[in-house]
Amino acid sequence: MTENDKSSQPKVEQDVVNPWEVQSSSDKGVDYDKLIERFGSSKIDDAVLARFEKIVTARGKKVHPFLKRGIFFSHRQLDEILTLYEQNKPFYLYTGRGPSSQAMHLGHLIPFVMTQYLQETFDVPLVIQLTDDEKFLWKDLTLEECESLSWENTKDIIACGFNPEKTFIFSDLNYIGSSKEFYWNMKRIEKCVTFNQVKGIFGFGDSDCIGKISFPAIQAAPSFSSSFPHIFNGRKDIACLIPCAIDQDPYFRMTRDVAPRLHYRKPALLHSVFFPALQGAQTKMSASDPNTSIFLTDTAAQIKKKINKYAYSGGRDTIEEHRQYGGNCDVDVSFQYLEFFLEDDEELEQIRKDYSSGKMLTGELKQRLIKVLQDLVALHQECRAKVDKAVIDQFTRLDRYKCCEDFPPLPQSSGKKKKKGDKKQLSESVQEMKVGDCANGKS
Ligand code: TRP
Repeated sequence: MTENDKSSQPKVEQDVVNPWEVQSSSDKGVDYDKLIERFGSSKIDDAVLARFEKIVTARGKKVHPFLKRGIFFSHRQLDEILTLYEQNKPFYLYTGRGPSSQAMHLGHLIPFVMTQYLQETFDVPLVIQLTDDEKFLWKDLTLEECESLSWENTKDIIACGFNPEKTFIFSDLNYIGSSKEFYWNMKRIEKCVTFNQVKGIFGFGDSDCIGKISFPAIQAAPSFSSSFPHIFNGRKDIACLIPCAIDQDPYFRMTRDVAPRLHYRKPALLHSVFFPALQGAQTKMSASDPNTSIFLTDTAAQIKKKINKYAYSGGRDTIEEHRQYGGNCDVDVSFQYLEFFLEDDEELEQIRKDYSSGKMLTGELKQRLIKVLQDLVALHQECRAKVDKAVIDQFTRLDRYKCCEDFPPLPQSSGKKKKKGDKKQLSESVQEMKVGDCANGKS
């Protein structure tokens, strides 16, 4: 394949974005503003960013480049999480990964890098779900293979630098069978959602196995603090913030829909854009084609070769033309990768200016990127090599978790009935749902 050879995907009329398929109709990639409208989420605009910045800088922290650069571009109820933080009230983070391949690539890092930053900045508990059961249902893999992929991926996730005292990493195949509370929440959620609804949300059809049809309840359950009694001391009212790529939003639209019916809080969300394939934002990264992305297992030489050979260039055909007209940062994958991983804002702006004006050539741009990625991947590999069984234990064993005492039980209610229609009180307190409420669409 030559440098600017696009893979042979057919063009689509409208961007397609769901947990299993992402395809854009333009070579600039997905139109994210349109997606916000279609999904009904909110843009992370200047006002939200300014508030975020004010809150974190007051505590001596910085705003992550992913936020400033629009890589996390959309949210649901982030403002409420910020208010809780200002009021010293608790919340937790939840993210996850479907471990479908041994080697993770750069794109897989994005939600984890953001989540690590949020955990460090706000000093809050975090749960990470490995949906090895999901991969079993969707891929041609055995349960044994799915479980072992979970352990391999766990090492990469731990290497992202999470706080072992406040992070619980669990594989569905291992945790759910041992947690009555998680399982009960799954059942509550399953009772609230009809086949017709999941068909509408996820496009399931008559020939999909029944495991797939009920799977969304499993990804929804960690959004509710009562699924983790060993962390939250049985509390059902702890708010949850989920950083994820926007393709996961359908799961959480469903979750937010059922939450009030279970008298639980709706989880808040932070959505990221997709990480482009080397061949361009319109094409997909594929775990089966190693040349579409940089893997966390790649050597320095492989990184150099892949960037030089495959990274789609927004440069001109000849040096003369490039000097005269400049390169196009909007489609240049090397520039886009730098937007993700070059920390220095000033240097990034300088590169944008110099490349657009033609002062900087494609080869020079690629050289800078190669260095950034070689350093990043080498550091990741160094951290991953230190993750042994004892370290994994710290993140996965239920009895190692240290948060319970941070969540004292709520005072028992006095037995008086809450006033009907007192919305605020109702959403702040969490009451046990009556079984039967949901399936009938009552309450
Ligand atoms: N379904 C996701 C995937 O295939 C994994 C996942 C589970 C997840 N829970 C999540 C991702 C919460 C983001 C947030 O990768």
